[in-house]
Amino acid sequence: MSKTALVFGATGQDGSYLCEMLLKKGYNVLAIARRSSVDNTERLKYCLNHRKFTMVRGDICDQSFVFSTIAKNNPAEIYNLAAQSHVGDSFTQPNYTIDVDLMGTLNVLNGILNFSKSSRFYQASTSEMYGSCFSYYSLIDGTRVESKTAISREDFIKKKCFQDELTAMIPNSPYGVAKLASHNLVKIYRESYGLYACSGILFNHESPRRGELFVTRKITSWIGMRKNSKTKEKLQLGNVDSLRDWGHAKDYVEAMHSMLQLNAPDDFVIATGCTYSVEDFLNVAFKHAGFGSWKRQVVLNPTLKRPFEVDALRGVSTKAAKALKWEPSYNFDLLVKEMVESDIDGHKV
Ligand code: NAP
Ligand code: GDD
Repeated sequence: MSKTALVFGATGQDGSYLCEMLLKKGYNVLAIARRSSVDNTERLKYCLNHRKFTMVRGDICDQSFVFSTIAKNNPAEIYNLAAQSHVGDSFTQPNYTIDVDLMGTLNVLNGILNFSKSSRFYQASTSEMYGSCFSYYSLIDGTRVESKTAISREDFIKKKCFQDELTAMIPNSPYGVAKLASHNLVKIYRESYGLYACSGILFNHESPRRGELFVTRKITSWIGMRKNSKTKEKLQLGNVDSLRDWGHAKDYVEAMHSMLQLNAPDDFVIATGCTYSVEDFLNVAFKHAGFGSWKRQVVLNPTLKRPFEVDALRGVSTKAAKALKWEPSYNFDLLVKEMVESDIDGHKV
């Protein structure tokens, strides 16, 4: 008999790729989508007519809904991807972010504990939990040294600084706080009650389906509009110096699934190991679009800067490579190219 997977956050970037992947693997997929006054199922267009796909309307903050859905379906696997996922917005909507990103997770964990203890659980943790903490290998003796002091951007790049499963986590945003609390709850429920519960510490991952308010898609959707003569406005951005480890969402949903197939639950970093600045993204995206220098087309607007920034991210997924046999199939250039081409082509994904 086919396994059933319950997906919270199915209408999002990752949720849509995950649902498609699970259907391909033969799962019955129960997709949770919150009620909306306009259609929010665009990204699920390849799933909606599949005979093993069922969509249920509900909100992760509604404990009675979460409990009854878990109790009724007793799913083999539960993925929690539902979140207010915009870091910048978490500064202006901290209470709401905590409600969805923390209390929502607690609802699912308690639903599993009380009604479906054999369900395997995946939690969408994030590199945003690190804040400004990182590690680096000492170049002198080759041992792993946790840096305790501030380090320049140049040194971060030069000294091969990175974050992994052992790096301290001191978040810089309400979003990071909510996600770290959820991350810790997953560990507590795993160790206290024996649940099969895992967190994937995923670094930034993008795709043509990325929301248009995240920086990569904001850039490529502007390029698409400019190329198709739909805008004369310049592109407005905040901090273009920050460094991110950007992968492709398609690769990352494979890792989520693999984490639930192990003999024992564990937490894993999922990342490419490479770091690029927002400025690098602009350079590569403008090159693929055949545009000149981005500097003539972009306005740096200080009001788009965050009150507190995670300056640099580079993840090391040695643990995932070993235990999950996971590695990314996209590099930075391929990712940017796909996003640019999709937006120039009218976003046919
Ligand atoms: P996304 O595109 O913003 O999707 C978030 C999903 O959560 C959407 O389906 C959204 O529904 C749903 N949602 C929001 N509030 C909800 C609520 N109260 N009840 C039920 N559903 C709700 O995010 P994503 O990029 O796919 O990321 C998926 C998850 O991974 C998120 O938890 C995110 O925080 C985490 N994460 C993402 C990255 C990344 O780089 N993409 C990295 C690390 C971790 P609507 O469609 O109706 O808005
Ligand atoms: N969104 C946005 N909009 N970001 C901008 C802009 C802008 O106009 N201008 C500069 N940036 C900078 C941000 O300040 C940040 O340093 C960087 O671009 C990336 O911002 P986002 O694309 O919003 O992603 P994020 O890194 O803050 O958060 C994403 O990755 C996390 C994992 O590290 C989200 O997907 C989170 O949900 C995820 O947890």
